[in-house]
Amino acid sequence: MKGKKVTLLRQDFPFLQKKKGEKKPVYFDNACQSLRPEPVIQAINEYYRDYPGCAGRSAHRIGEEVSRAVAAARKKIARFLRVQHEEEIIFTRNTTEGINLVAQSWPWQEGDRVLISDKEHNSNLLPWLRLQKQKIIQLDVVPSTEDNQLDLNRWEEVLRQKKVRLISVGFTSNLDGVTIPAAELIKLAHDYGALVLLDGAQTVPHQQLNLAKLGVDFLAFSGHKMLGPSGTGVLYARRELLEQMNPFLLGGETVARSTYQDYTLLPPPEKFEAGLQNYAGIIGLGAAVEYLEKVGFDFIQKQEEELNSFLTAQLQQIPQLQIIGPADPRQRGGIISFYLPQISASQLALILDSSHWIMVRAGQHCVHSWFAARKIPATLRISLYFYNTREEAEIFLQALQQTLKIL
Ligand code: ALA
Repeated sequence: MKGKKVTLLRQDFPFLQKKKGEKKPVYFDNACQSLRPEPVIQAINEYYRDYPGCAGRSAHRIGEEVSRAVAAARKKIARFLRVQHEEEIIFTRNTTEGINLVAQSWPWQEGDRVLISDKEHNSNLLPWLRLQKQKIIQLDVVPSTEDNQLDLNRWEEVLRQKKVRLISVGFTSNLDGVTIPAAELIKLAHDYGALVLLDGAQTVPHQQLNLAKLGVDFLAFSGHKMLGPSGTGVLYARRELLEQMNPFLLGGETVARSTYQDYTLLPPPEKFEAGLQNYAGIIGLGAAVEYLEKVGFDFIQKQEEELNSFLTAQLQQIPQLQIIGPADPRQRGGIISFYLPQISASQLALILDSSHWIMVRAGQHCVHSWFAARKIPATLRISLYFYNTREEAEIFLQALQQTLKIL
């Protein structure tokens, strides 16, 4: 039954229908970008073909149509995240922009301290490092456990000792797939008067969130890792926080009025969405959310867990192969990141692609700081999604064994 569902779903993805001779693509780089199904591609095409206008500005028919479509996408995303107020959904280009928006727009005060973990993506490290270098904030890095998990006791220790303004942390790591106990961390942070920003880039595509229940202050994520168009993202923030923030980009449609001396900002979300937006992308993201809801997150998680367990068990048989993070695949979502001493991960990835049409990512996955601290050169990362199959996993394992023999 489940196998049949995957077969049917795969038919919606044009890229999975491609062939090179006898070979079909094996796409295991979903943490970078997912593939897109037909309804998303259609929604994008319809915008360009049928109503390619500007939202919120022009009173002609296509202008009104695109305004309605953008508003409908915002509503869908708010509903999807169980957010009560649509104006708390800000459209961005990606997770990186969402985090930078908070870093650059928050009214920092002298002595403000920010905490991050020791395994943050550059997008959740550099914006804070820059503020620290500019002496706007103080930054502390809280270490994870030996197997890369969040240690709540350590966080509490720091929160007890220091006055913290904001915790900004990856909800699910792109490095190893570990999801943190976000609800517990948020409760702890709030008990000590700190706000919490979650980098949800690797979480929102894989699990159903209920932001009303979670009580998070900020959540940034990308559309392109959850079947949406490239260069789309969302920043969710509680309305009272958005009201305190000064947008780092100003321009068209962010103000109610301007004179040569002054201007009056519009309320959120408009004040944060300066200039013409990626309307096709926003509308496509709305279609992606609808598609994900139809697939269902129980199915998505079950599929990823089964495949990860199978791949992990097989990979663990390869002598000297080291998987990053917890040994238990159920704690690593859809990610398996590993290395082999003496073997170049990038060479391995290149051969897997050129000889077998298997797409994985090799390198430091934008978490250079973690690799630098451990003197590990790189890993090869498999990142799965619900349309991946056991057959693809077997093709990968066979290709890996063959390639390792050559290397
Ligand atoms: N953050 C994305 C990845 O891990 C680009 O591949």
